Amino acid sequence: MIRPAARARVREKAEHSRKDAAVVASPVLFRQLSPPYPPARIVALVSGSGTNLQALLDACADPAYGAAVVAVGADRSGILGLKRAEDADVPTFVVRVKDYPDRTAWDCALRDQVVSYAPDLVVSAGFMKLLGPDFLAAFGGRTVNTHPALLPSFPGMHGARDALEYGVKVTGCTLFAVAAGVDDGPIIAQEAVPVREGDDEETLHERIKTAERQMLVQYAGRMAREGWTIRTDRKVTIP
Ligand code: GRF
Repeated sequence: MIRPAARARVREKAEHSRKDAAVVASPVLFRQLSPPYPPARIVALVSGSGTNLQALLDACADPAYGAAVVAVGADRSGILGLKRAEDADVPTFVVRVKDYPDRTAWDCALRDQVVSYAPDLVVSAGFMKLLGPDFLAAFGGRTVNTHPALLPSFPGMHGARDALEYGVKVTGCTLFAVAAGVDDGPIIAQEAVPVREGDDEETLHERIKTAERQMLVQYAGRMAREGWTIRTDRKVTIP
């Protein structure tokens, strides 16, 4: 059954998100390099099981990949994502919203932790908090996020569930450069994923996550090795 409430929610979120879109005022070129070059420094942010992080860690084990995860940050402790980092001997840090007087203070604390690792690229890999203006002032254009839907459709916390409720036959995943809205920003890559008869949220999300991990590894690697440009028209180019 198509639920009109879900449809309205999705449309509202997409409109809200477009209004808040922050795009660059002039083209910005990140990490223009000629080989031989040091591996790109990646800080990954996680909130959960960290399978996207694991895919990145596995890829980074090959020196030819051109990147290293230098730290993993989280907004909560005791999650599998942090354990994956510890198992790979990657430093971790936790910055919890409840430990700060307000969201701005939390955003600044998160920014300061990330600054201390001097990343070329920040990967929000299942990080379930909105990055605020202070964080994005420091890392806008070099922060990417993955989302389990084909943006601008189905932004928000439940991309797979919302797509299923809407009744789409094809959904997917999106890698984008984080801007100031909800799941908004210049799109770097997308992969389509079919919705199958009998899917529930879990089976669909798992299928999406398989595509999401491959997409993240492929494009983060290309960005690390080749650099990227964010243009004023929201296009991202990787040479
Ligand atoms: C991914 O589907 C991500 O897009 C969404 O949450 C999931 C995180 O999965 N925001 P994992 O923690 O990487 O396993």
